[in-house]
Amino acid sequence: MMRIFLADISATRKLGITLAQSLNAGNVILLEGDLGAGKTTLVQGIGEGLGITDPIVSPTFTLINEYTQGRLPLYHLDLYRLESNQVPALNLETYWEGIEVTPGIVAIEWAERMPYKPDSYLSVRLSYGDEKTRQMEITPHNCVLSEEIVTRRM
Ligand SMILES: Nc1ncnc2c1ncn2[C@@H]1O[C@H](COP(=O)(O)OP(=O)(O)O)[C@@H](O)[C@H]1O
Ligand SMILES: [Mg+2]
Repeated sequence: MMRIFLADISATRKLGITLAQSLNAGNVILLEGDLGAGKTTLVQGIGEGLGITDPIVSPTFTLINEYTQGRLPLYHLDLYRLESNQVPALNLETYWEGIEVTPGIVAIEWAERMPYKPDSYLSVRLSYGDEKTRQMEITPHNCVLSEEIVTRRM
């Protein structure tokens, strides 16, 4: 597990951009943390790093937003409005297995609500410092953190 201090919103966005450079099709990022912790902001950085030009907006009400104009498709999900027992019906694995969709990056907010996880994923936990600062804990599960993240040449 790696702990990263995010001094302000632009640090969070930049970290997302850096993270995006090393992502491959099929990679899953599971985001946890309270409302306003910065999950969507990080995904906006990832989208920017993938070269997505459409504005990335919170999928809280739409459940999933898909962006296809970047280096890889981005599937951005938010489980906030669901209970754990409603999640299996979404067949989330179709996204990370790329079975009926073009393989891409899967970013899931409120991953706490997932009753099952993929074999391999990056776990990202965001928490508050004060109004401007956030802490991020990033843990790779059955994968490795890219050199860029470890050394944070941002
Ligand atoms: N260091 C920071 N990183 C990310 N967001 C920050 C930071 N500091 C302040 N904020 C603010 O916190 C809020 C984060 O919102 P958002 O990314 O939508 O959170 P979540 O998706 O976790 O609910 C935004 O209003 C943003 O401006
Ligand atoms: Mg959000």
